[in-house]
Amino acid sequence: MTENNLIQTAVNILKRGGLVAIPTETVYGLGADASNESAIRKIFAAKERPFDHPLIVHLANIDQLSVWAREISPAAYKLATACWPGPLTMILKKQPQVLDVVTGHQDTVGIRIPRHPVAQELLTAFGQGIAAPSANKFTHISPTTAQAVQEELGDKVDLILDGGACEVGLESTIIDMTQAMPVILRPGMITAEEIAKILDLPVHMGSSEHKDIPRVPGMHHLHYAPTTHTIMLATTDIPSWIKQLNPQDLPVALIHRQHISSVDTSAIHTIKMPDDAASFAHDLYHVLRTLDQQQFKLIVIEEVPLTNEWDAIRDRLNKATR
Ligand code: TXA
Ligand code: MG
Repeated sequence: MTENNLIQTAVNILKRGGLVAIPTETVYGLGADASNESAIRKIFAAKERPFDHPLIVHLANIDQLSVWAREISPAAYKLATACWPGPLTMILKKQPQVLDVVTGHQDTVGIRIPRHPVAQELLTAFGQGIAAPSANKFTHISPTTAQAVQEELGDKVDLILDGGACEVGLESTIIDMTQAMPVILRPGMITAEEIAKILDLPVHMGSSEHKDIPRVPGMHHLHYAPTTHTIMLATTDIPSWIKQLNPQDLPVALIHRQHISSVDTSAIHTIKMPDDAASFAHDLYHVLRTLDQQQFKLIVIEEVPLTNEWDAIRDRLNKATR
């Protein structure tokens, strides 16, 4: 089938209430017509996701924003213009017709305009909102390749559009723009600092204390987690950890960035990650997913820097480890 035909097939599936896995620049999404309640219910069933976790509505362009959201502030428009299409989700007051099953019965809706060309093509051809969570089973790692979607939900989707490996590799930054003070609910590769600069406003980090637990993205314990026991270690603790390993502890895998000095690493499976945050993010889920399929007794991840550009990575690593 030519690519055009595939997009048309996907549009037809969406129109009749089916599910299409969609490549975006962040991670693959499990898409359904955002205005079709029974289609949306299929998403929750396929993911085995509780109904109080709201979905992001994906749009083709900013002109569609006011169909879904109301009371959109000048700051929200400014952010939309600067960051869309791209890896950002805005929480806005919803229009009355937005389905409760999409918003988890809240008065707000999450909106994103993705920039992946296949997502753009599909959204433009469909012409309506597409509700799409990440295309993984609830609490699993988000898929960043079509193959990973196939492994997670292959028998549950009507079509998987293959758009290659996701460029960003981590889920979008989620920012609540319903109040005068913007609040980041989920850090992403568009950082709080970048947003503060665009808006010329202080941007706050959301915290679990003043939010409803299930509604705050990824607050569920062990969200984004491999099934293999996974821990994080400080760089300086890695050599002593390796030294005390016993044969019965093996096999183990180590995901590191820095050179591990003065120890014998031959007994452990090491993955050297890129030094820069963007490349690290791009690779992370694929590496975790691949290691998770190899029966290691333990996966160890070297801690990442404390600087802003690593915020989203640190957030996901904290959620993947215990
Ligand atoms: O990069 C992404 O955001 C990907 C791609 C497919 O767009 N999508 C994604 O969706 O990560 P999901 O459903 O796995 O995570 C979205 C998070 C959920 O944890 C949900 O709680 C939160 O967004 N969310 C959605 N609507 C919300 C709302 N109205 N208020 C607060 N949080 C909301
Ligand atoms: Mg998800």
